[in-house]
Amino acid sequence: MAKRSYPLARVYGLIEPGPVVLLSTAGPAWPDVMALSWLMPVEFEPPLVACVLGPQDYSYGRLRKTRECVLNIPTVELADKVVAVGNCSGRDTDKFRTFGLTARPAALVAAPLVGECFANLECRVHDTRMVNRYGIFVLEVVKAWVDPAVRDPKTLHHRGRGVFMVAGESIRLKSAMK
Ligand SMILES: Cc1cc2nc3c(=O)[nH]c(=O)nc-3n(C[C@H](O)[C@H](O)[C@H](O)COP(=O)(O)O)c2cc1C
Repeated sequence: MAKRSYPLARVYGLIEPGPVVLLSTAGPAWPDVMALSWLMPVEFEPPLVACVLGPQDYSYGRLRKTRECVLNIPTVELADKVVAVGNCSGRDTDKFRTFGLTARPAALVAAPLVGECFANLECRVHDTRMVNRYGIFVLEVVKAWVDPAVRDPKTLHHRGRGVFMVAGESIRLKSAMK
């Protein structure tokens, strides 16, 4: 197998777990929402999830301040909106209104659920010790919602530079991992 050297800046696209999520936060003028693909599970129960946010994101300051957010999981039907909310900022744009997304009240946090997403994870910030160094927020999922009608969700997985893989096929194997 002839392989070629691969640019280090593109490595993340090979191992990125995805799915791309929409991270929503509460705020003074309007709720905000950003696309986020750098995330990973950290603990089963209570569920902990690590997310990387850049300080340039308006959501970064909101998350630091409010210590709450919702991770909304979209399917491929929302792909254009996912990219659109990732290409502009809540500093000057009401993204829910602009992109026709529905903000629904959450049960335990002030940040809204994105109604169009098949799953919504209400989160509180659990650990900020890696925020200054890496932008890593460890979140605790305190409430989870899933649409039971969506069996094999066609989630989006970011490969970088505008390329996304679309999931949706499930296979069943004898894995010991719970
Ligand atoms: C597919 C996609 C994935 C993204 N993943 C991340 C991410 O993991 N972390 C991050 O800080 N920004 C990520 N972004 C960029 C933010 O979504 C973008 O900076 C957004 O404008 C921030 O919005 P805000 O200023 O309203 O918070 C991503 C954008 C796209 C389109």
